[in-house]
Amino acid sequence: MGIEISVEGLTKSFGSQKIWEDVSFTLPEGEVSALLGPSGTGKSVFLKSLIGLLRPERGQIIIDGTDILQCTAKELYEIRKLFGVLFQDGALFGSMDLYDNVAFPLREHTRKSESEIRDVVMEKLELTGLTGAEGKLPGEISGGMRKRAGLARALVLDPEIILVDEPDSGLDPVRTTYLAQLLIDINAQIDATILIVTHNINLARTVPDNLGMLYRKKLVMFGPREVLLTSEEPSVRQFLRGSKLGPIGMSEEKDDAQMREEQAQADAGHNDGSPGEDEVTGVPPQMQPTPGGPERKGEIRREKRVAEMMDTLPDSAQEAIRAEWASRGHGGNGKHAAAATAGATTRGTGDSASTTGIDDHYGSDEN
Ligand SMILES: Nc1ncnc2c1ncn2[C@@H]1O[C@H](COP(=O)(O)OP(=O)(O)O)[C@@H](O)[C@H]1O
Ligand SMILES: [Mg+2]
Repeated sequence: MGIEISVEGLTKSFGSQKIWEDVSFTLPEGEVSALLGPSGTGKSVFLKSLIGLLRPERGQIIIDGTDILQCTAKELYEIRKLFGVLFQDGALFGSMDLYDNVAFPLREHTRKSESEIRDVVMEKLELTGLTGAEGKLPGEISGGMRKRAGLARALVLDPEIILVDEPDSGLDPVRTTYLAQLLIDINAQIDATILIVTHNINLARTVPDNLGMLYRKKLVMFGPREVLLTSEEPSVRQFLRGSKLGPIGMSEEKDDAQMREEQAQADAGHNDGSPGEDEVTGVPPQMQPTPGGPERKGEIRREKRVAEMMDTLPDSAQEAIRAEWASRGHGGNGKHAAAATAGATTRGTGDSASTTGIDDHYGSDEN
């Protein structure tokens, strides 16, 4: 089962430049969460802090009961083995073929024999649809394949926590959806806790269980997806629409005069090309695991968790959650009743079925 990560009062600066401060939130075990935010707000810095590559000056990061900002180097080394990280460009070694890239963490961190390593590498390459490409160099394959190879490498140590930095960068919308589907399927199979950093709005609206946003050096909000997706907070609304209208400017902030001027231009009929408010309002259905695979345990736990915290959520989020439950004939008792019944009829049970479907999607060399 995935592991909960609890962040409390976290503050990070480089010299006199404060990146973000007093960030507190919990990534629930085995759930998929996403962190949004304009470029330069420190999303990548945050991911690097979670794995101990960067060191925030204040706060706590509790992983599996250990505060990684207080623990020994040896403890941190052990904690890091819980992570699989997919960096933005895949971060593959350019001179190694995909096989050696994916095998690298196993050769570094385990005492497995080369034949044991081969089994794991080929399994992960198959899972990510890269069977047959193991002899290719990163420079010889497309961006989508590099991403999947990076993901295969992130999976070889059976991570409990998977961090993904901008899975959509360099990918077209279709391949982005396939990669997101792969992440959801992996979550269903191994119940890992997943954090995705992204500014892809479609992905943010449809993939994660929980959503947060970094802006003006703060975590503006973090919670069940319905909270952010129904929020009236101006920076959140603006970000979800990708509009010029609102507090976010070309550099991170804009002044009031510029905000007034842009609003006046819009009022006078200027179209900034962003979708209408109604096109990005509300909570679209969430991406499901590929049929035939296991159901997501994190989703079942989340339903119970959300039911328990219901009273603390804003009215608009409560309405969206109840509407979603009603659409599945769910009474709201946190028992996942409707989904469990549907699962019995539409999903396979055996392990052999658990990876089918994925290969069909990723079988092509071209993506
Ligand atoms: N190692 C570093 N040393 C100094 N400044 C850094 C370092 N890494 C990132 N920064 C700064 O931190 C800020 C946030 O960067 P980043 O996390 O990459 O933003 P995002 O991923 O949200 O686009 C940027 O201003 C960047 O210049
Ligand atoms: Mg970044």
